[in-house]
Amino acid sequence: MCGIVGYVGPQACAPILLDGLRRLEYRGYDSAGLAVHAPGGRIEVRRAVGKLRNLESALREKPLEGAVGIGHTRWATHGRPSEVNAHPHVAGDVAVVHNGIIENHMPLRRELEEAGCTIASDTDTELVAHLVEREVQQGKDLEAAVRAALGRLEGAYAIAVLSAKEPERIVVAKSASPLVIGLGEGEMFCASDIPALLPYTRDMLFMEDGEMAVLEAGSVRLTTVAGADVEREPKRIDWSPVMAEKAGYKHFMLKEIFEQPRAMEDTLRGRLDREHGDVHGHEIGLSEEDAKGIRRVLLLACGTSHHATIAGKYFLEEIAKVPAVIEIASEFRGREAVVGEGDLVVAVSQSGETLDTLVAAKEAKERGAKVLAIANVIGSAIPRMADAVFYTHAGPEIGVASTKCFSTQLANLLMLSVWLGRRRGAITAERSRELVEGLARLPTTMKDVLQGTRQLVANLARRYVDARDVLYLGRGLSFPIALEGALKLKEISYVHAEGYPAGEMKHGPIALIDSSVPAIVLVPRDRHWERSISNLQEAKAREAIVIAVATEGDEEARQVSHDLIEIPAVDEVLTPFLTVLPLQLYAYYVADFKGTDVDQPRNLAKTVTVE
Ligand code: AGP
Repeated sequence: MCGIVGYVGPQACAPILLDGLRRLEYRGYDSAGLAVHAPGGRIEVRRAVGKLRNLESALREKPLEGAVGIGHTRWATHGRPSEVNAHPHVAGDVAVVHNGIIENHMPLRRELEEAGCTIASDTDTELVAHLVEREVQQGKDLEAAVRAALGRLEGAYAIAVLSAKEPERIVVAKSASPLVIGLGEGEMFCASDIPALLPYTRDMLFMEDGEMAVLEAGSVRLTTVAGADVEREPKRIDWSPVMAEKAGYKHFMLKEIFEQPRAMEDTLRGRLDREHGDVHGHEIGLSEEDAKGIRRVLLLACGTSHHATIAGKYFLEEIAKVPAVIEIASEFRGREAVVGEGDLVVAVSQSGETLDTLVAAKEAKERGAKVLAIANVIGSAIPRMADAVFYTHAGPEIGVASTKCFSTQLANLLMLSVWLGRRRGAITAERSRELVEGLARLPTTMKDVLQGTRQLVANLARRYVDARDVLYLGRGLSFPIALEGALKLKEISYVHAEGYPAGEMKHGPIALIDSSVPAIVLVPRDRHWERSISNLQEAKAREAIVIAVATEGDEEARQVSHDLIEIPAVDEVLTPFLTVLPLQLYAYYVADFKGTDVDQPRNLAKTVTVE
């Protein structure tokens, strides 16, 4: 769960590496470091605890010169955040940066210590540096030394390695952690993720597990770890560097909230068949026959993506009339879950790298299920292992709190449901056309909601910023939105929040309510409206401060709530796309007023590649 970056070319590498690390800081930010081939045949290293600015200060005091180097931003897994545990790790002439976890680090450490190595840090990564160094000592070149060392490793890694003896190259390798190579003109790059490389190149080579590569200024040679040559065409990535920047917003999260209409437009583009009131389903990877034969859909995900799958279950059952089961990926894996042929597993993940989701989907695939990935990061691990992939096109999401990826995941789940519903004869052409037209209008409606509610929501956040607990309630499709609103608030403002099905409140959580607790109650005009209004009144009767999210013109909701946030009237299936927007804004403004680190909240990382 760290970020790595590398550069080999004619330019001074330190600014390029720092720039790349800045764009990867969302992956971890408890320490950072660079290693550079310095003039005179030495590798020089600078490391600093804390955020990247500390490394930048260290570099201002003692600059690094050189045109080939590697960098790292860390999220601690082995060994607490400290300078000695920060990467790069050096052994003799070798320097290594690593993202992942070496599972057999304990026997390796014992073996190396018995062989006389002095190991300075508590990390698993330093062991990799020693293993490579020992191979170099025995006369191997860097590529062969890395290859031999990889043979000793169990676990997950993306590594980049320098040797003082070979100052013109970087050797990289990947297994279960992401690594992408950027192809420049007379210069080469590598990084854990695409945004780090976008200012320099759009041509990317995605490495597969079990591969390594030798990067030199004018060439890349890709092989398997076993040594066989690999031919692969690079992919051109259309994201512009500006898309990966804050574009004038105070935080990435706010920018990403306001990008949702655009993200939705991009995600729907080319997929809605408005002529026939249908969805183009070729990416779903199922034949019409397969679609009819599906016994059940199993939705696997974590965190915000899991909340999207709850809405997905409701979409699938209502629109495609197919039984749908939701599983939190970490609870599914390793269990004797009943899954197999006839099941369509939909693995939903923004990053496409979440280890729990990846492993759970693999387990399901091994038992005979078909796996469809819904992911945002092109070429990431889950899409690669899946039988088919239906990408969200939200663009890079940098804020740790997911926003635009949630709404685009909802869109893909709804499109999947419509496509299956048509194939299975579960909805009429007329209903399908209504949904397709509703989806097509969403970007404009979402824009109106964002603009129309921003100031009001900021005022409410200011008014209730000191609340210690907040309750979120919703029924039906508003339930996953209640969960998502609560998660957003917890993640970035550190305020305790609970999301509950509104009907469940009376079975326990109602005891939490008193006059200091804001209850955000979702009461759009849907089939649950009357009962939801009753729940709202129950909360109010216990003196909660009631903030209702309701459909425009709902006088009853206005009368029974303290504060009212209005959304336009839409088909009830589409309400989650709108009700989530003020909840995201509310969490954002509370966090901003509290002065927390909105884009990089404490203890969290954007991509969770540990168990
Ligand atoms: C979202 O705000 C969270 N940071 C987190 O719950 C996230 O959704 C979860 O870790 C899953 O990530 P993924 O979508 O990349 O798989």
